Amino acid sequence: MSTICVLGLGYIGLPTGSMFALAGNDVIGVDPSPRVQKALEAGLASLDEPELQTLITAAINSGRLKVRMRPEPADAFIIAVPTPLEAATSTADLGYVETAARQIAPLLRRGNLVVLESTVPPGTTRDVLAPILGESGLVPGVDFHLAHCPERVLPGRILVELEQNDRLAGGLTPACAEAAAELYRSFVKGAIMRTDATIAELVKVMENTYRDVNVALANEFALIAERIGVDVWEAIRLANHHPRVNVLTPGPGVGGHCIAVDPWFLVGAAPDLAALIRAARQVNDGMPAHVVERLTAMVAPPAPIAVLGVTYKAEVDDIRESPALRVAQLAVERGYTVRLCDPHVRPDTPGLPAPLLALPQALRDAQAILLLVDHRAFHDLDVDLAASLVSGKRVLDARNVVDRELWQSRGFEVGVLGATLASVGAPVGRDSHEYLHL
Ligand SMILES: NC(=O)c1ccc[n+]([C@@H]2O[C@H](COP(=O)([O-])OP(=O)(O)OC[C@H]3O[C@@H](n4cnc5c(N)ncnc54)[C@H](O)[C@@H]3O)[C@@H](O)[C@H]2O)c1
Repeated sequence: MSTICVLGLGYIGLPTGSMFALAGNDVIGVDPSPRVQKALEAGLASLDEPELQTLITAAINSGRLKVRMRPEPADAFIIAVPTPLEAATSTADLGYVETAARQIAPLLRRGNLVVLESTVPPGTTRDVLAPILGESGLVPGVDFHLAHCPERVLPGRILVELEQNDRLAGGLTPACAEAAAELYRSFVKGAIMRTDATIAELVKVMENTYRDVNVALANEFALIAERIGVDVWEAIRLANHHPRVNVLTPGPGVGGHCIAVDPWFLVGAAPDLAALIRAARQVNDGMPAHVVERLTAMVAPPAPIAVLGVTYKAEVDDIRESPALRVAQLAVERGYTVRLCDPHVRPDTPGLPAPLLALPQALRDAQAILLLVDHRAFHDLDVDLAASLVSGKRVLDARNVVDRELWQSRGFEVGVLGATLASVGAPVGRDSHEYLHL
């Protein structure tokens, strides 16, 4: 068993550190954020993730998870800090990774292992991390092991996937890959595939780019279906009966800080070659404006509208890069009186463009309902409650969750992304097949 210092106690670092602790390792969890410190000192999960509270309570009670402001000497260091997009240049901001590396360098000892878990542009471990850690006087890959082990977990299923997913151990050298694989073996039940650090970095961003491009294709199909006056949801359902086709789900855009961000790391690596990747980003980034155009075709500003859903996808509390937030922002800019509603988001969350209210308050006297996130709570939305509260019976559904016939039978004008008003009236079949959600 080892002492493991985990830098960054967010969506990735906190569950990972807790898993290592429960596997019998002594874990020093490091995060400078007062919010994270305060929550963990009180034994509380700082994030809304299923089962995370149980895991953290168990890890803290085991006495093997300690929380600190700064890193301490350890056998292994895991870096799980943010790697956001630098807005002005659309390139990776590696500032957090560099700072973490500078904090680790003076603590490094011969035989240590340093693992970068953050998603980064290909080459970062070798060209950015290794030189900073090398300032310790120790040689990366010779005196200490260095590896990139990217995360593939799906928010909402992080705990299950941390344990079950296959994962990559990308070493600066084969021995580094082996050392990283050995460390993760303490709790990972999936296969651990050894490879080179730069390949591991490329694989991670390729995976998210693949998702982004395929969602962009579904979104482009939705736009084309609207133009030609048919229902894309019906078309996708039928297309997916082809044994080798799986069109993903259209929506108001792509968010989160992985799929909406990582493709830019590939564009940055080869701007002259990444035409398809760049175009897909543009299609997905254009969806919020399209949703607002559809809204405007239904009701003019400054009508009050209830925006249902703020997070970047269903059943998470994460609003980073959220297309729903972008739609709300654009609607505010266009002059609508916007009320937000999201059961997963706290009303005091910074950066919200409009007040976040409980469902009845958001719906009361609204001229239109804009459904942007397919949270379970919105699937179960009571049409009679909605009809009794709103003053304009209009709903624009960007996720195809509304029971169209039911809402129409209550007098609602139903708009659906990817379908024109005329085609919304047409019968839509349902398959047992579940569309693949991000
Ligand atoms: N969230 C996901 O589902 C997911 C999935 C795969 C990969 N990733 C990648 O993992 C990395 C981390 O993502 P996240 O979602 O956990 O981010 P996060 O923002 O939830 O957490 C990162 C934490 O790091 C802390 N931090 C910043 N600098 C630090 C430092 N020098 N020392 C210690 N802590 C520091 C921050 O205070 C923050 O709490 C990113 O590169 C992301 O792209 C995330």
